[in-house]
Amino acid sequence: MSYTIAISGKGGTGKTTLAALVIRWLRKTHKGKSILAVDADPNANLDQALGLKSGNSIVAIIDSLAKNPEQLKAGETKERFIEYHIQDSLVEAGGFDLLTMGRPEGPGCYCYVNNLLRNLIDKLSKSYSYIVIDNEAGMEHLSRRTTRIMDLLFIVSDSSLVGLRSAKRILDLTRELELVVKDAKLVLNKAGDETSQLKAEIEALGISLAGVIPEDKKLAGLSRENGDLSSLSTDSQALKAVDKICEGAI
Ligand SMILES: Nc1ncnc2c1ncn2[C@@H]1O[C@H](COP(=O)(O)OP(=O)(O)O)[C@@H](O)[C@H]1O
Ligand SMILES: [Mg+2]
Repeated sequence: MSYTIAISGKGGTGKTTLAALVIRWLRKTHKGKSILAVDADPNANLDQALGLKSGNSIVAIIDSLAKNPEQLKAGETKERFIEYHIQDSLVEAGGFDLLTMGRPEGPGCYCYVNNLLRNLIDKLSKSYSYIVIDNEAGMEHLSRRTTRIMDLLFIVSDSSLVGLRSAKRILDLTRELELVVKDAKLVLNKAGDETSQLKAEIEALGISLAGVIPEDKKLAGLSRENGDLSSLSTDSQALKAVDKICEGAI
């Protein structure tokens, strides 16, 4: 079975950034281990952060079948077709694969896509050592249960009270929904010395602080250019902080 790392948090806190840098750490320190990156955010941009162009998303495959149902071979079920094409669409980059959910049109489609994604992750979990899931902002993905089991849930927040309150709501919801989260850890991003003033609030969350990632100008610059973080140099403060977080948490 794979070790699943899910990343949640308010929008713009740095989930995709953390996902990309966790994958970079896994590739560096766990050479030869298979890694699946999952972009479960309808506003997909993990591909960019990883310096790739994603293949067909799950949604694109479903849409293509809806438009051209004659693609189904005799006796082939819709589910089988979709699964086959998704396996085919996994982008194989050096040392890891990328699976993208895509954006469903209309609210009714979400459940279907989500069930497919969850079943697929379940199946794929037998073939990968690590699965890293970059989730959408907010909490809907938790109630839709993108993943059945999370070995590690990183909840990302900025160093504001509002951010920490969002982190708390995410944590509470995982408990209400009785999601299987073996370990949840807080990550403070774009944060500095001010975090020491938040000690009481962080303690009140009841989960440990995995680490603090500083505001990093180089990283922000790459983001502005094209979002590709794969060229982030090894002296990046954010990269060093994420490496340390991974060493302590994974
Ligand atoms: N430590 C950091 N230092 C500087 N900029 C950062 C840092 N972390 C994230 N960012 C920037 O903040 C923005 C939001 O980050 P992103 O990872 O896309 O957040 P999310 O996926 O949670 O919406 C991006 O422009 C990203 O480059
Ligand atoms: Mg994101």
